[in-house]
Amino acid sequence: MLIKVLGSAAGGGFPQWNCNGRMSSSARLRKPGFKARTQSSLAASSNGKDWVLLNASPDLRQQINETAELWPAADGPRRDSPIRAVILTNGDVDHIIGLINLREGQPFSLYASDRVLATVNANSVFNVLNPEKVKRIELALDKPTALKGADMDLGLTVEAFDVPGKVALYLEDSSKGDSFGTETGDTIGLKVTEPSTGKSFFYIPGCAAVDARLAARLKGAELVLFDGTLYTDDEMLSQGLMPKTGHRMGHISMSGPDGSIAAFDSLDVARKVFVHINNSNPALNDNSPERKAVEGAGWVVSYDGMEISL
Ligand code: MLT
Ligand code: MN
Repeated sequence: MLIKVLGSAAGGGFPQWNCNGRMSSSARLRKPGFKARTQSSLAASSNGKDWVLLNASPDLRQQINETAELWPAADGPRRDSPIRAVILTNGDVDHIIGLINLREGQPFSLYASDRVLATVNANSVFNVLNPEKVKRIELALDKPTALKGADMDLGLTVEAFDVPGKVALYLEDSSKGDSFGTETGDTIGLKVTEPSTGKSFFYIPGCAAVDARLAARLKGAELVLFDGTLYTDDEMLSQGLMPKTGHRMGHISMSGPDGSIAAFDSLDVARKVFVHINNSNPALNDNSPERKAVEGAGWVVSYDGMEISL
């Protein structure tokens, strides 16, 4: 099974268009150690020819152009794409807007939870994906689904499961208290398995906490690509960027006693990779003490174009 990180940054990318903080400014000026990154998406394939996208970021057009595996086959028909399916893990802007780039009548399968499909269905702009050619398929939670690309068997199964999180920012309901109206299925993690080899990996780009259920699920995993939004919960405040904590945004932080690094310490996960990394996160700087700490704890900070073979 092949996995490619198409975009390793969180919403806004790195640098973010309107951000004058030290991290984005350094990336914009191409300072050493500050590698630019596009928004959150992954591609996976069993045969190296037919691919499923895990999330469709607003930068998808650029990501396809930079990833030869996602180009039409050189000897293929006049309209062609190896992208056979897309799975959405939430309704966030950074995960769904790239669907718009996949118009032009190309058939593929679109998978999401009932909650996220309802959001897509409620926005008629997504009808640019011809419903006759792009089947919208509800992913049931906690049971494996064999992935199909239009009518093609992709040789992969996916199991979706609810994780602690928050409804998309633009759907928040302030009358619903601290939950903002979040329901089961608003934020899911995915376990992608290749039945022919038994290999599998977890993809969880948004997660508010590693609770006992999630910890039990991840214990002993071969590979987990996990929410690396923030290093510390208050870093956006302390950098003067915006008055929100990671907790308020539905994201666990890397560091601290309640952070992901500590939570994974006892889980025996063989390969731990941070994805969905916010432009405020100092671990994006290759030469920072935070990067050193992350790597010292056995984690990898992903980058665009990173390839993993299982
Ligand atoms: C998030 O990951 O919290 C969202 O992508 C934030 C946003 O919508 O900008
Ligand atoms: Mn996001």
